[in-house]
Amino acid sequence: MAKVTIVGVGPGSPDYVTPIARRTVQKAHLVIGAQRVLTLFLEDVKGEVLALTAKNVNELFQRAIASAKEGKMVVLLSTGDPGFSGLLGTFLSFPQASEVEIEVIPGISALQVCAARLGMCWDDAVLFSFHKGADNANKAELAEALKKGKNVMLLPDPKAFSPSEIARFLIANGIKGDTSAFVCENLTLNNERITASTLEEIAMTHFSSLCVLAISPQYKRNTKVVNLHVDL
Ligand SMILES: C[S@@+](CC[C@H](N)C(=O)[O-])C[C@H]1O[C@@H](n2cnc3c(N)ncnc32)[C@H](O)[C@@H]1O
Repeated sequence: MAKVTIVGVGPGSPDYVTPIARRTVQKAHLVIGAQRVLTLFLEDVKGEVLALTAKNVNELFQRAIASAKEGKMVVLLSTGDPGFSGLLGTFLSFPQASEVEIEVIPGISALQVCAARLGMCWDDAVLFSFHKGADNANKAELAEALKKGKNVMLLPDPKAFSPSEIARFLIANGIKGDTSAFVCENLTLNNERITASTLEEIAMTHFSSLCVLAISPQYKRNTKVVNLHVDL
């Protein structure tokens, strides 16, 4: 059966691109990905390259499937890990995706880097993605998880549910303003910034759209958080 390979490429720095991701791209006849991701593979790509934008997703997915059916090796590049708010979900929701086999090469997610920077175990954290928008049910689940004392890691919606809006929403819905919260911006990139703060301070601050928000009712102020300032 024809196959499309979806490759996770990490949060942005070439240091976080895995060797198998590079080898897979080197072998591909067709590589499709957002421009910011394609630049990580300038020296690896040997086949045709198509830049994915918000407007041409359907067209390029059709091209990917048609090329795979012609026997070509087709790669879709996805930031972070394809399975968390990545291209895997977008591709699976494409009607013709069932016509090809899908292989996933995992990548290092921005969430993993966030947890590492904070020195935080995330095995019992509750994960949310508002990247494609936030509805009332999702928002209520977020407040509920925090009321139960769970640590939360999430991708904000840069437009409608940014870190400051999330903090204001949570405070308005009964979460204490002095709850510890961390904003991890531009992870692994030269302008990476980790802000350790509280919900009430984050409610008044603007952050870059490329960020992960971690909220930790379990974090004690006298607990040392390691790796807050990472020398890149
Ligand atoms: C389409 S989602 C992709 C998530 C990706 N699949 C992952 O596993 O990290 C894009 C969102 O991920 C987060 N993100 C991606 N790269 C990031 C980075 N370098 N630093 C901080 N957040 C990042 C931001 O919230 C961004 O809006």
